[in-house]
Amino acid sequence: MDKHHYKPKRGLWTSRLGFIMASAGSAVGLGNIWKFPYITGMHGGGAFVLFFIFCIVAVGVPIMIAEMVIGRHTRKDPVGAFRKLRGGPWTLVGWLGVTAGFVILSYYCVVAGWAVDYLWLAVKGTFSGKHIQEVPELFTSLLASDLSQLFWQAVFMAATVWIVLGGVSNGLERANKLMMPVLFLILIVLAVRGLFSPGGPKALAFLFTPDWQKLDATAMLEAMGHAFFSLSLGMGAMLTYGSYADEGTNIPNVALTVSIMDTCVALLAGIAIFPIVFTYGMAPAAGPGLVFKTLPIIFSQMPGGTLIAIMFFLLLVFAALTSSISLLEVVVAYYCDEKKWQRRNATVVMGFLIFLLGVPSALSNHLLADVHFIGGRNFLDSIDLLATNYILPLGGLLIAIFTGWVMTTRLARGEIEKGAVNFHYYPVWHFLIKYVSPVLVAIVFLSRSGLF
Ligand code: PHE
Repeated sequence: MDKHHYKPKRGLWTSRLGFIMASAGSAVGLGNIWKFPYITGMHGGGAFVLFFIFCIVAVGVPIMIAEMVIGRHTRKDPVGAFRKLRGGPWTLVGWLGVTAGFVILSYYCVVAGWAVDYLWLAVKGTFSGKHIQEVPELFTSLLASDLSQLFWQAVFMAATVWIVLGGVSNGLERANKLMMPVLFLILIVLAVRGLFSPGGPKALAFLFTPDWQKLDATAMLEAMGHAFFSLSLGMGAMLTYGSYADEGTNIPNVALTVSIMDTCVALLAGIAIFPIVFTYGMAPAAGPGLVFKTLPIIFSQMPGGTLIAIMFFLLLVFAALTSSISLLEVVVAYYCDEKKWQRRNATVVMGFLIFLLGVPSALSNHLLADVHFIGGRNFLDSIDLLATNYILPLGGLLIAIFTGWVMTTRLARGEIEKGAVNFHYYPVWHFLIKYVSPVLVAIVFLSRSGLF
């Protein structure tokens, strides 16, 4: 077979740009705009942000390259990929990934549902002219309504299923190419606005001046887990997307571009949100409701706020969609490749089952609010913590060990150099993936568990 003309029975991105946009679409999501600001707020800012960026560079980029290499080399879903390369217990790494995709998507749809609800509020003009105190209450009343949350969760899941039904190039790629550029634009507008508002300087100081005392083991684990979550790593999403990439694509280049875009969006979201927090004397450590309580405040005060609000929440929904489709794609790819299901059946059935698993998350703020799990957290926050801080880093650790120690150099290098001819940084990558990434992840794990 001509190496540049892999003829897929599976999907394939139509271009390098399509691959970049889809991967960036997967990476950029609620993690950047909803989660990054609120966990940064809870862990005291600067030091957390810098450690997060360090994790992206030292652990994230190398592992993203590894996942894409494994995916493209095997042209399979995560389970099939590990089975093909080595099999035995390593297949479990693929399994861990598919399971993580299932679990993460279940609660991801609930939070994305909040964004859809806010989009609806914006369309109705609810924010405009509201008193500053009244705006955060909108969020409280949303969380108090189990039915609304279930409804929007279902709407969002239906949209995800609909796109994934369209297939790799017609569904996933088209949706991403359309939504990603607009997202960047609107975020830049909001960030510039934030910078020039009264709380701007304080927000910048909060985000970028490190107070290393605040970086304890819990914060480090959170930052590292979030690096995995934000870059969609550790569960085979990038592996699956890599499996649809053309042989001529320069993988390190794509991975680096995607990581830079993802980091920029997170920082921009912080720069858009924290000035409002400081201008209106709100608490940076407000938790998961932060974005929904802060940004609508400026929407309620500024001229043309309704329009900007509509744009912003539309984009938040888009960002969430381009990520949720990648989560569903991992599960669907598994059922198509390994179980030979038809794509349509796999998408609809799995979408429905994942929706059901999400129901307790949707109810976790009201009906099930008194049921506590990890450290007094509700169901949603507990499985988010479990998936992000433990399953993804564990998956990432195993992928790094696999690539660095089990996969032969000839194989890894050969795959990378199909698209990155004479890849000079190969030794750097190999060193990072073999030693640095696994050791770092292990240290953070162990220090959190108190063994270190
Ligand atoms: N990266 C996505 C976000 O930041 C979430 C995600 C995690 C997507 C894992 C796919 C796989 O919102």
